[in-house]
Amino acid sequence: MCGVVGYIGQENCAPIILNGLKKLEYRGYDSAGLAISETPDVLKIIRAEGKLSNLERIFTQEPFEGSRGLGHIRWATHGAPTEVNAHPHVAGSIVLAHNGIIENYLYLRDKLASEGREFTSATDTEVVAHLIDSELENADDLHHAVRKALSQIEGSYAFVVMSVNEPETLVVARNAAPMVLGRNENAAFAASDIPAVLEHTRKFVFLNDGDTAVLTREKTSIFDAQGLPVDRPEKLIQWDPISAEKQGYKHFMLKEIFEQPTRIIDTLRGRTDLDAGDINLNEVDLDDAFLEQVNKITIIACGTSYYSAMVGKYLIEGHARIPVEVDLASEYRYRNPIVDGKTLCIAISQSGETADTLAALREAKKLGAKTMCICNVIESTIARESDAILYTHAGPEIAVASTKASTTQLVALSMLAIWLGRRKNTMSAEDGRAWIEALRAVPTAIETILNDLDPYKDIAKQFSSAISFLYLGRGAQFPVALEGALKLKEISYIHAEGYASGEMKHGPIALIDENMPIVAIAPNDDVYEKTVSNVMEAKARQGKIIAIVEEGDDNLSRVADVVIEIPTVDQRVQPIITYVAVQLISYFIADFKGTDIDQPRNLAKSVTVE
Ligand code: AGP
Repeated sequence: MCGVVGYIGQENCAPIILNGLKKLEYRGYDSAGLAISETPDVLKIIRAEGKLSNLERIFTQEPFEGSRGLGHIRWATHGAPTEVNAHPHVAGSIVLAHNGIIENYLYLRDKLASEGREFTSATDTEVVAHLIDSELENADDLHHAVRKALSQIEGSYAFVVMSVNEPETLVVARNAAPMVLGRNENAAFAASDIPAVLEHTRKFVFLNDGDTAVLTREKTSIFDAQGLPVDRPEKLIQWDPISAEKQGYKHFMLKEIFEQPTRIIDTLRGRTDLDAGDINLNEVDLDDAFLEQVNKITIIACGTSYYSAMVGKYLIEGHARIPVEVDLASEYRYRNPIVDGKTLCIAISQSGETADTLAALREAKKLGAKTMCICNVIESTIARESDAILYTHAGPEIAVASTKASTTQLVALSMLAIWLGRRKNTMSAEDGRAWIEALRAVPTAIETILNDLDPYKDIAKQFSSAISFLYLGRGAQFPVALEGALKLKEISYIHAEGYASGEMKHGPIALIDENMPIVAIAPNDDVYEKTVSNVMEAKARQGKIIAIVEEGDDNLSRVADVVIEIPTVDQRVQPIITYVAVQLISYFIADFKGTDIDQPRNLAKSVTVE
């Protein structure tokens, strides 16, 4: 989705802003723009369709300088991804770049048009620029005009705005879309995400919904929704800026796949107590009184996080014996869910900004549920709005296709299942101990997989021209099948379906012929024999079987066309291991096809529209 970078300081800021936008490219976009104050009263603006490199080309042909500016990458919502619709947008003395959706923009546009204002784009953003410009006539200054405009706007926004009439100021506003502020001794920054300006500062302030801020070279002033000055705490970000770089890997996705052993150790760090067979989740603010009465858990999420939620259902129901419902966040709020004070609603989200998940979380809260999130991005909106937070500590995930965020989600869900099971007395200390040991063994098992990539490269060579793939799994491997199919679709653009193995004979079996690769996810678990029977049914119809099995498998590996061996691990952590195998299948197929793996077409990393 869109990304914004704003700067006001002492240096020539065009390179700083362009570099910041580069760090936001992962969000997904289709046009870009840059505005710089060349002199106090001259603003230079360039915009380009497509990749940031197109904008950089224009800039290099005719570079310009200035120490105040803003840049934007746009993921089209209102209006095609053309140059004219790209941000920044200009109205009178105003220049503005925006992330979000202005829901009442048509009403505002008509009103402003009736006052004689002319629009050059199809965007909702240009309306905001005009609205602020029109409010300037009766306002004390730019910040006042912004606040007057905000009182008329409905929707989500995070924007940076400047005016030629106030050369010493940048004004920022945020509501239901991410915006962070940073500052060092020379400059103030505003950005949609931390990596954009992490090389310039480690100190960040996170705005609340409804906040506005005025940035000058000397200071940052923040105001709450009522317009009153307010202090928001400064957070020190510990990440190394380099952790958001490719570090020699061909793609961010591959780097993030390889990071999983380390990130899983980070997720477990300080949270496991092997002696007690228990998990230390003191940070999770759920009191004993609530835990005693909780009678239902609803997990809400989208995409990959939704499949993690499905694995979580197996883990929590199976071991903590609390009923778990799993809902697609985009469906939850419209299905009139049954919720009361004994319901725990858990939102799972890597970004913590997914609009559907946020809306579902708010709905659950409104209906009286206790809320919790499993989230990767600290201080994200979902984290800030949940009663309790369990951070995954996967570090910045840049590739659009989620990998390390999802395996760390599974680790977090495993810890939660142990923690709940121990508190509900459904799990003995011995059982807890065995599970913790299994979790601690996961990084080594993943390393074993990562040490031999040849089978995945072979699959890519053999099957990259297939039109469609079928992924089959049973039990906790069913969500892995769904995740494998999603990952393949996202980055290779090959159609794929995930199915519960036992369900194949009820329909999709009609698709199977000698051209259909079938990824059978069949580690040695309680339902292994059943999965084998289902795969044999596919084999009997000439399907090409790619079997993900445990080392030493002497059954499915005999009939499969390609065998991927994974290490033997405790059944409870198998989905974490098989996730890695399906990630690698998609990665190498996409790499063989030469697609844009880190920024697949049409996709955005953080989906901030409903
Ligand atoms: C994962 O590969 C996808 N890009 C996508 O399905 C993602 O998981 C989904 O949009 C949810 O995002 P979130 O975890 O940030 O909420």
